[in-house]
Amino acid sequence: MEIRNLRQTAILGIESSCDETAAAVVADGCKILSSVVASQLDIHGEYGGVVPELASREHLRAIVPVVRRALVEANMSWDGMNAVAVTAGPGLIGSLLVGVTFAKAVCLARDLPLIAVNHVEGHIHSVLIENSDVRFPALALVVSGGHTHLFEVRDVGTYRLLGKTRDDAAGEAYDKVAKLLGFGYPGGPIIDKLAPFGNPNRVRFTPAKMKGNALDFSFSGLKTAVLRWKEEHHINGEIEARRQNSDRSVEGWLKVTGLETLDMLASFQRTVIDELLRRAVSAAEEIGADSVLIAGGVASNSGLRRAAEQTRGLQFYFPSQGLATDNAAMIAAAGFSKFARGEFAGFELKPQAGLVLA
Ligand code: KG4
Ligand code: ZN
Repeated sequence: MEIRNLRQTAILGIESSCDETAAAVVADGCKILSSVVASQLDIHGEYGGVVPELASREHLRAIVPVVRRALVEANMSWDGMNAVAVTAGPGLIGSLLVGVTFAKAVCLARDLPLIAVNHVEGHIHSVLIENSDVRFPALALVVSGGHTHLFEVRDVGTYRLLGKTRDDAAGEAYDKVAKLLGFGYPGGPIIDKLAPFGNPNRVRFTPAKMKGNALDFSFSGLKTAVLRWKEEHHINGEIEARRQNSDRSVEGWLKVTGLETLDMLASFQRTVIDELLRRAVSAAEEIGADSVLIAGGVASNSGLRRAAEQTRGLQFYFPSQGLATDNAAMIAAAGFSKFARGEFAGFELKPQAGLVLA
């Protein structure tokens, strides 16, 4: 296989798999020259989750200005670009189509190679992009609103799926619990900020017991347990007050959240973290890895980061601020490793909602 001269290789990354339109320019696979993310939170927030039709429409509106800004901020012209890497799946099909169609059009017009990137692989690169000391085989936990997956990363570009959620993703559980209790969307950051105000030992949630693959996850039981907890506690007034709440600061939420709810949120967060770390640690043992990469939106969770720091014998790596949630720098970085291996896509590339990594 031909290995190209990789000096000064600039890749434009495009990401539109869910509710963020993003573009970034990354040089040599590790220097982020620009990373622009247009979030649709304001649009989906009032519905308590992403509305696919609205997401596609917003991507269509945002894609051209977002790419333009990424080029301007990187101080780059199309002539300086070596390839375009785009998320081809998994994700919402209407959203993916916007990014993929745009990327194809640009590649055709500018005679650039097209690179198809799996969104989950992108998340893994959100950690690799800044940490060249990761030792392989490494264990990767990709944990977001759409995924909770454990992979063995044998080397960059070689993955083996070890376990995944059988129902809800961890971020989805955060979002559903938040919605149930009258907090806005996305729920993860809100619950994360409020959890330190509660007692994590107050509510006992039963850990999920998995038949078959012990490295699989399940979060739907936890979500149902929170629903039951809500029905047993008379907090409808509190929930309504939160639905009307316009002050979305921690202080604002604390004004409309009782101690019992705070204890429950702390216990919920503690349970999710335990479930994630317990399996990550045993998976790392199983494959003999001492580097553990945690990526995806839930990797921003402060409780998860603290708990990982206290876990002995493993080196944990997290994405830095702005790289945990969906972005295009991670897509460009993943694209760079494919560029180096000569893995290009043809113009017949079709996005796939259920694209799998391994
Ligand atoms: O990676 P991402 O931006 O999109 C997907 O690919 O899903 O992740 C978004 C998810 C949402 O479910 C959000 O609630 C969750 O990540 N999230 C968090 C935190 N920040 C974002 N969950 C827990 N704690 C956080 N601090
Ligand atoms: Zn994601």
